[in-house]
Amino acid sequence: MSELHIRHLYHRYGVTEVLADVGLDLYAGETLALVGPSGCGKSTLLHIIAGLLTPSEVVMQSTFRGLACVFQEPRLMPWKTTADNIALGLKALGVPKTARQRQAAALAQRMGLAPEDLAKYPHELSGGMQSRVSLARALAIKPDLLLLDEPFSALDIGLKAELYRQLEEQVQQQGTAVLMITHDLMEAVRLADRILMMVPDPGRMVYEFTLQQPQAERSSTWVYQTTAELMQVREVRIGFGLDEGELPVQISHHEQHSGCSV
Ligand SMILES: Nc1ncnc2c1ncn2[C@@H]1O[C@H](COP(=O)(O)OP(=O)(O)O)[C@@H](O)[C@H]1O
Ligand SMILES: [Mg+2]
Repeated sequence: MSELHIRHLYHRYGVTEVLADVGLDLYAGETLALVGPSGCGKSTLLHIIAGLLTPSEVVMQSTFRGLACVFQEPRLMPWKTTADNIALGLKALGVPKTARQRQAAALAQRMGLAPEDLAKYPHELSGGMQSRVSLARALAIKPDLLLLDEPFSALDIGLKAELYRQLEEQVQQQGTAVLMITHDLMEAVRLADRILMMVPDPGRMVYEFTLQQPQAERSSTWVYQTTAELMQVREVRIGFGLDEGELPVQISHHEQHSGCSV
């Protein structure tokens, strides 16, 4: 089974320490949400895991082989069509052109794009459609580790719900591990098996919460109630600036208790 282990991760931009002694574990088939206020180092951490940024110090072990990222901005190639954008990673893997086009078309359909969208260029697509293309491009390479940096935050709730379903299906059918960043606690409660709360200055983990309710059995009521319970946790309140206070350097671990089963 593929796994990722990070310990003693430090990162500085110049003299400013933005990540201090960060650690995390992630296993195949698991969805881990990193939650925290803006500026606490979530994107920096994701870029380090993706290999796009070299940290000041780290001990990192990973047996994942296929890694795909989806960012908040879709980051499509403006001079390539929808089909070619989706197939970008497949081309790099050496998949022949006809097979690439077929797989891109199937994924586009799965993401709710129309057949005529395949020949369009990014500027001809709405923001929501670009997000669908971006997710399709990431899934095209059949990643075993998917890194998501708030890709849903600018989308309307209908499209969000639809892409959540696609993500859920991916995890269930392919056993993909997902590391998702969000500043939306409710999104984390809806999608994650585990939630890690980060705080800034310097960026670090302060609270870990394990959700035992299977994702398919999470009703809206359950999501609201669990989010409300988490909003009462001291680390979460201080982390999001709702309360004043100092947080310890050590992380505290908690499991969902059985009483919460709406
Ligand atoms: N390239 C950079 N150079 C200098 N400082 C940066 C750079 N990128 C991010 N930062 C700073 O590092 C901190 C963490 O940023 P970031 O990882 O983007 O946080 P988040 O994604 O949680 O909002 C912030 O204070 C941000 O201003
Ligand atoms: Mg960010």
